[in-house]
Amino acid sequence: MIQNVGNKAFILSTPKTAYAFALLPTGHLEHLYYGAPLQLGGPSGFIDEASAEGSCLLAALEPLREKHAFAPGTSVIYDQGHPQYSLDDMRLEYSAPGKGDLRDPALELTNADGSLSSDFIFESAEIIGEKLPFKALPGSYSEEGDAQQLCVSFLDKENKLKLELCYYVFEDCDVISRSARLVNLGDEPVSVRRIMSLQLDLDRPGYVFTGFTGAWAREMQRTDTLLNAGRYSLGSRSGASSHRANPFVMLHPSDTTEDRGEVYGFNLIYSGNHLESAEVSPFGKTRFMTGINPEGFGWTLQPGEDFEAPEAVMAWSSDGFNGLSRSMHRFVREHIIRGEWKHKDRPVLLNSWEAAYFDISESRLMKLAKAGKDAGIELFVMDDGWFGERNDDTSSLGDWNVNKKKLPGGLKGLADKINALGMDFGIWVEPEMISEKSELYRKHPNWAMQIPGKDHSEGRNQRILDLANPAVQDFIIDKMSEVFSSANISYVKWDMNRPFSDAFSPWLAAQNAAAEEARPLRGQSETPHRYIMGLYRIMKELTARHPHILFEGCASGGNRFDLGILSYFPQIWASDDTDALARGFIQTGYSYGYPMSCVSAHVSARPNHQTLRNTPLETRFGVAAFGIFGYEMNFADLPAEAMNAIKVQIELYKKWRSVLQWGDFYRGRSFGSMPVSGVSAGASAGIPGAGNILEWTVVSSDRSKAVGIIMQNQVLPNWQFHSYFPKGLDPAGIYLLYGRKRKFDLRNFGDLVNTVAPVHIKSESQIHHILARFVKMDGETEECISSGAALMNGGLHMKQAFGGTGYSEEVRYFQDYACRMYFIERSE
Ligand code: DGJ
Repeated sequence: MIQNVGNKAFILSTPKTAYAFALLPTGHLEHLYYGAPLQLGGPSGFIDEASAEGSCLLAALEPLREKHAFAPGTSVIYDQGHPQYSLDDMRLEYSAPGKGDLRDPALELTNADGSLSSDFIFESAEIIGEKLPFKALPGSYSEEGDAQQLCVSFLDKENKLKLELCYYVFEDCDVISRSARLVNLGDEPVSVRRIMSLQLDLDRPGYVFTGFTGAWAREMQRTDTLLNAGRYSLGSRSGASSHRANPFVMLHPSDTTEDRGEVYGFNLIYSGNHLESAEVSPFGKTRFMTGINPEGFGWTLQPGEDFEAPEAVMAWSSDGFNGLSRSMHRFVREHIIRGEWKHKDRPVLLNSWEAAYFDISESRLMKLAKAGKDAGIELFVMDDGWFGERNDDTSSLGDWNVNKKKLPGGLKGLADKINALGMDFGIWVEPEMISEKSELYRKHPNWAMQIPGKDHSEGRNQRILDLANPAVQDFIIDKMSEVFSSANISYVKWDMNRPFSDAFSPWLAAQNAAAEEARPLRGQSETPHRYIMGLYRIMKELTARHPHILFEGCASGGNRFDLGILSYFPQIWASDDTDALARGFIQTGYSYGYPMSCVSAHVSARPNHQTLRNTPLETRFGVAAFGIFGYEMNFADLPAEAMNAIKVQIELYKKWRSVLQWGDFYRGRSFGSMPVSGVSAGASAGIPGAGNILEWTVVSSDRSKAVGIIMQNQVLPNWQFHSYFPKGLDPAGIYLLYGRKRKFDLRNFGDLVNTVAPVHIKSESQIHHILARFVKMDGETEECISSGAALMNGGLHMKQAFGGTGYSEEVRYFQDYACRMYFIERSE
């Protein structure tokens, strides 16, 4: 609900939150409040301030306003008419420099006269019943008109500029999103140096800024930083939203836990360079901002033109991080992901990359596919290596013609054969790139982003196409459409494998040169944003032309995991790291801001190709099953025993697929972040065993079914009791909880076999191996019926773990990286 009290005060309410701001005597907007519902009553819409309801509301907001009697010493007074106000010590909805506010501004311009000061004064406000789409950028959307919009306009009269702040209220998920738009009403160009999407001025210091930072194969590591003074920021300058720092961040008091305490969460619907910053002012106020990273950004706004900042998302919860995550998950599922796949079950997939890398051929792929089919795979994906002369990563990007030596029947020939096996077929592409060794580069060298006449720094032996150029956009749209229509392609993995360097758009330079007389130079600082707008045009067009295709975003794994990509592609390859332990950290990181239905995760070989770690197949399955599930390993080479185990896994996954893909996800205890230099965020430091256990539970929306996993990092000697605590069940419901009956390889117990064997068996000897084929060690299992409350509060106390003495089927074999999955069904 949105309330506009006579253009004097504004209240945005969702069932569990409220957001309020009010007009200051100076004409600026004072931020009053963001948190639990205010319960002030009154109708929705415009409320006359003189009416009984209006005056009541204004009076009720009075305690939330700051009372300024004088400006702090040596501060700049806004104007002579308001000597008590210094903008530097006020909570503002949006700020600009030059009039006394010395903190980081939300907006920074070079005006037509070269001056840097801006002063935007409230003009009008309008409530709109639905959410209007953006022009060039993706934004959230509402299908059933379940979002409301408030647009507030400001004018900088001296510099002839209009600013619009838009607020969108999503009641179903307790989310409010925001954006900003600047319009040049003058006759001269204006240079935009910074235009942030969201500013939130909070009235105290001491928040913890939680970000999710990382690198290739180590994405989304939770990073906690306490803010008492100064400025802290995360962001990207790589051209993509990047694995260095995801745009999803949180601010919270230091005692907030997974299930208790207050937390603000923010995200940005954008895939390029971004900045999230928090600054504690000398007066102890915290200013948070998110938007396009101003570093390396600039935009020339010609007379009559406007600039839209990407939409930013915010939520608040008093139910800890899990409470916030549930709002964010619902928002992403309902208001970001769109199209046919929004609520459609995702198929179990087998990807060729870690099975074959570039060494593919029709016969090799068919062997893999047949093994996949036998195991229950539903979608077979051919990854890199199928086009041009692509035998390694040094060539052919841009030449999207099938390599007939590898696939004599072309894409159609292979797709038909895969379809005939009863599986869907998918392919890999990397359309934003160009290899220097390619036909495309020979034909169109000026389509690559590079500085003419200067050496270019390479990444993965490739360059980035100039997506600012409409001709390049058209080429990608047409060529990809041709590829996607050339065979029965059901799935596309859209990769992007290098950061920007020498980011220079030859097209923009040519535009500038042609327009030199008529308009001043548009600098290359527009290039990164123009690239992203070009990318969005391409994605929009291709997803509209091919609505049945399931698109998966990818950028060397999670180097562009953001709401902009998710506005077009319903899922993203979360990390090139398929190691189950690493994925435990990484997927936990994603889960704070993103639903598991968009996080894709695969079971891969042992030892793992990124870490060389050996983890049990059960754990690789358990961890991947909580994401969008698939396999990425050479089935054709696996022993029958492993293939049988995989077959059982896939059957089980299919049975529980709808709970795993669409249920509500809860974090229990966490590993925290990977302990880089001994520092790990998120786990309770100092408590023995803290950070050693990972727990996730996913619960169907009617709370009738749930799946849980408890995973251990390393065995703690003589530490035999573990408990699994489910979450999200109906406390009053009666549930049956059970585990899987499993058998373990005798060789896992090494020469301890001799404690029970009638004859001596030499460890690793042939007889040891033969025996292991026939004799299995029975594993423990669990089964109980209890109330949701008992299970959630008391926990399932699992059978005793092996602790150096006797093993039986009543003892839990729980080695390093072991896990147990539990299945929970309402039994009434
Ligand atoms: C990087 C991706 O993240 C991998 O999964 C794989 O598709 C390779 N690119 C292929 O080159």
